[in-house]
Amino acid sequence: MIFSPSSINLLRATEALKNNQLIGLPTETVYGLAGNALSDVAIQRIFALKGRPATNPLIVHIADFNQIDSLIAPLNTQQAKNLEKLKVFWPGPLTIILPKSSLVPDLLTANSPTVAIRIPNHQIALKIIRDSGLPLAAPSANRSNYISPTSAQHVLEEFGEELEFIIDGGSCTIGLESTVISLVSDIPQILRPGAITLNQIRSIIPEVQLLERILSPDAQQSAPGQQIKHYSPKTKLIFKEDYKPTKDLQKIAYVAFTQLSELEQKSFFSYKLLSTSGNLTEIAQKLFGTLRELDQQNLDLIIIDKCPEEQLGLAIMDRLKRATN
Ligand code: TXA
Ligand code: MG
Repeated sequence: MIFSPSSINLLRATEALKNNQLIGLPTETVYGLAGNALSDVAIQRIFALKGRPATNPLIVHIADFNQIDSLIAPLNTQQAKNLEKLKVFWPGPLTIILPKSSLVPDLLTANSPTVAIRIPNHQIALKIIRDSGLPLAAPSANRSNYISPTSAQHVLEEFGEELEFIIDGGSCTIGLESTVISLVSDIPQILRPGAITLNQIRSIIPEVQLLERILSPDAQQSAPGQQIKHYSPKTKLIFKEDYKPTKDLQKIAYVAFTQLSELEQKSFFSYKLLSTSGNLTEIAQKLFGTLRELDQQNLDLIIIDKCPEEQLGLAIMDRLKRATN
């Protein structure tokens, strides 16, 4: 069920977390499916409810920087320097991977010696983390491989009665999952692009590298969560530039990033405009919700625009390349 973020409901949510139950947690990126990060029982429940392979590790959410000390192993000089620089983006849409401490369950990290940590920039999430006194494991609150949820209603659509508690924090202001960066080796690597952009990170760590996320089915999986097929609607999704009109397909939706003429609009069964001016922030905010809505309409095909792979456009295109693959 969906609950408003009243004091009494937040108290009930923190009690649920302390009892190893899961809650739907709003963050600025996407909604999370949250549970006690230090409890094997809660972690197992997250994997089971999402249908997530046990080989794909979870992110730990904390509210205050000093909470990190108990979760990470002693850092080398380079790692400590890089963490010190990157913490300016916290709270915010940046997840940092570091060597883990023995307190962090192997189940959470899928037996990896590293742990992913983030301080979300969302007052409700921060309050729940602080009040529960727990670090919270929270992957996106969707069934494995479906589109990430950007509203409480989306989380309800995913899990129905199977998730007792969803806290309504409104629509996510960013709408795409966080940037993931690994500080494990001396040269930091971005594993997933997000709203903290490559350029922003480059301005403080010039040597940072962007890991080419694997899109070829033949390529070997080099890091967790790098699956080819991800974030996909059930309806076939292709880029507009790959679309060739045929008579067989009747119900086609077009998701545009800039305004079309009325004549062009009319040639589609359904037309969604994400931004009148190609504004990347607006496109990111509306993208997942729009794909979700269209996916419920029994369409033959969804076609979508591309945007330049720069700034936030890099993250938007990363998600779309996976969803169209
Ligand atoms: O914005 C977000 O990050 C959202 C909100 C809820 O915070 N969470 C999220 O979690 O997107 P999830 O589980 O859907 O994505 C986490 C990504 C996965 O690709 C996972 O493989 C990767 O982070 N990851 C987690 N721990 C890792 C580790 N130790 N090493 C490498 N990758 C890791
Ligand atoms: Mg996810």
